[in-house]
Amino acid sequence: MPRLSSLLFGGIACALLVAEGVMAQTRSYAAWAAESAMRRGQGKGLDASGNSLVNYEHGELQWALRLLYERTGNQTYYDYILSGASNVVADDGTVGGRYSLSDYSLDPLRTGPTFLYLYQQTKDQKWKTAADTFKKQLETHPRTAQGQFWHKKIYPYQGWLDGVYMGDVFYAQYVKDFQSTNVSAWGDIVNQIANMALMSIQVPGVQNYNGLLYHGYDYSKKAVWAAPDRGHSPEVWNRALGWYTMALVDVLDILPDGSGRLQVLNIIQTLAPRIRDAADKATGVWWLVMTQPGREGNYFESSGSAMFVYSLLKAVRKGYVADYDGSIVRAATKAYNYMTANWVIPNPDGTMGWTNTVMVGSLSGTGDYQVFAQPSTPTKRANLAAITSK
Ligand SMILES: *[C@@H]1O[C@H](CO)[C@@H](O)[C@H](O)[C@H]1NC(C)=O
Ligand SMILES: *[C@@H]1O[C@H](CO)[C@@H](O)[C@H](O)[C@H]1NC(C)=O
Repeated sequence: MPRLSSLLFGGIACALLVAEGVMAQTRSYAAWAAESAMRRGQGKGLDASGNSLVNYEHGELQWALRLLYERTGNQTYYDYILSGASNVVADDGTVGGRYSLSDYSLDPLRTGPTFLYLYQQTKDQKWKTAADTFKKQLETHPRTAQGQFWHKKIYPYQGWLDGVYMGDVFYAQYVKDFQSTNVSAWGDIVNQIANMALMSIQVPGVQNYNGLLYHGYDYSKKAVWAAPDRGHSPEVWNRALGWYTMALVDVLDILPDGSGRLQVLNIIQTLAPRIRDAADKATGVWWLVMTQPGREGNYFESSGSAMFVYSLLKAVRKGYVADYDGSIVRAATKAYNYMTANWVIPNPDGTMGWTNTVMVGSLSGTGDYQVFAQPSTPTKRANLAAITSK
């Protein structure tokens, strides 16, 4: 079996694995995807009109390019990260790109790991200044009474799985780099992760039980979708859970011993087998709305599936999850093979496309099944190029 490693995401999160040794004559899917994204000018800190833009999708591509750079040493990837980040950070470290601290949105902070990385690499103060700005946002970011960051100021009292990924991976890396002995900061990060699980996990006995996490919760229970008990939303959305599981395995790389690490390990150890078991038996990939498998309008969704493959393989590879019978790696491998066979699209110009990715999923409205699974939504079959130019 080929060794699977190094999952990369770009744009809304297309994921690609390096299947080493399988195709010695060609480049890896990861390199192909990276080159395709760069040729399309994606993830470069610019919007479609060429104006500076701070955007989590760009942070995501930069993260992926960094992994690929570390793996291959190919300078092209590093240069692309640097020029993209330079499009949103001025020489004095001011963060531009329409970022506004007072929006109190966690999404833009996903570009923060790029700033921290570039500071490590260059020691140029501007990257530290930019990262400090994001950290300042977190210091005054509104929270629930349990200490959870609101997903955005416009979504008061709401914790979303997505936000744990967008905010806390940056937060953890910042603390590691500049305040590694700050016990209360580590405790804060672990608490946010653990609280999110506590408030959104499915409990046995509910309809469509799979033991996974609903998309989010409203601590004030005022949202139309908030359940009477914990205020959670009604469905398990694969990509939100994917963001969250990626946050778990990425934060585990950062958390020191004695920081509450065991709590985070416990969560990934609980979720990994449940995610394995929630895969569609025939294809091995995951439904968009995991609580409604097979329902009309639901479909096998590629970004969330890729995130699960990343999280599962990384969790086992790093020893965060023990895979005694090999079933987790087998499940992830099966999904990976389906992904590359069915969702990778060779474009006529030689670039790679990536299909079946849902455009957005939000709790801004009713948060119910109809929001996510609309068979007529053209974006679900859109090419990666179209999706990420949004
Ligand atoms: C580095 O990556 C770029 C972009 O994909 C590619 O054109 C180039 O051939 C790569 N260089 C090497 C030495 O592989
Ligand atoms: C420690 O972390 C907390 C929470 O992030 C922060 O409020 C505090 O300022 C930090 N203390 C130091 C000395 O950096």
